[in-house]
Amino acid sequence: MSKRLRKVVFPVAGLGTRFLPATKAVAKEMLPVLDRPLIQYAVDEAVDAGADTLVFVTNRYKHAIADYFDRAYELEAKLESKGKDELLAQVQGTLPRHVRAVFVTQPEALGLGHAVLCARPVVGDEPFGVMLPDDLILNEDGPGALRQMADAAMSADGGVIAVEEVPRDQTHKYGIVAIGEPIDAHAAPITHMVEKPRPEEAPSQLGVVGRYVLPGRIFELLEQTRPGSGGEIQLTDAIEGLLHQQQALAYRFQGRRFDCGNKLGLVRATLHLAQRDPELAPAIEAFLRTN
Ligand code: G1P
Repeated sequence: MSKRLRKVVFPVAGLGTRFLPATKAVAKEMLPVLDRPLIQYAVDEAVDAGADTLVFVTNRYKHAIADYFDRAYELEAKLESKGKDELLAQVQGTLPRHVRAVFVTQPEALGLGHAVLCARPVVGDEPFGVMLPDDLILNEDGPGALRQMADAAMSADGGVIAVEEVPRDQTHKYGIVAIGEPIDAHAAPITHMVEKPRPEEAPSQLGVVGRYVLPGRIFELLEQTRPGSGGEIQLTDAIEGLLHQQQALAYRFQGRRFDCGNKLGLVRATLHLAQRDPELAPAIEAFLRTN
């Protein structure tokens, strides 16, 4: 794979049941982590990796994400006339001007693999990224995780999948990979991949985290993928099929992951960012000491 990573797919059609009742009316991806919606962190990471086309795979109820990345002419005019330049810049800055957002609907909730397949008409056959916004990855000291992976993909002929060590009793929550001889401190070829195995069946404790760089060839495999774990069409199963044709690398990214798909992760991410915000940090530290 030698092309730049231009397109990134965001499967965001989930119902967000862990955050009910809030998600009755608010898309999970719009829940704020400190001062920005969860989806903004993923979009910033994609743009940092060089993406100029963001493909959101949504369901018919999730207009809020499209509204958020759209221009808000009335609001912008009001802020401009009041001279609120900083706020105006924030409102206009949700998506840089050179980046376009494309929305595709997933008509039925048939699984992550199916959601990615829905993006095929926009992505075509070039290499692309997949980001699951629930996994918020912060790398304060360097490039974002997707950029690290896009760089690794330049020298690999296949996919690059983000992984991290997970506790043995949690393997049933992740895609789990088995790897061969490491190439360097970050990357190793995947030899086998299985979706959500029970601990006794897991080939390792290396869990897949929500970042993928994939070749366009994956779409053909997704077309042929039958329902797997949980009765859903799994991206993991299509990647396992890809391994028979092309190499895929397991990539240990630099950065810290917060699983914002559950309450604890969302609170942790918010606290982590608040403790690093110069204005908030002293009050937060005092609160944590006395609460
Ligand atoms: C999905 C993938 C799984 C991966 C996980 C990472 O599962 O199917 O392989 O490990 O994301 O967050 P989900 O969490 O959507 O059930």
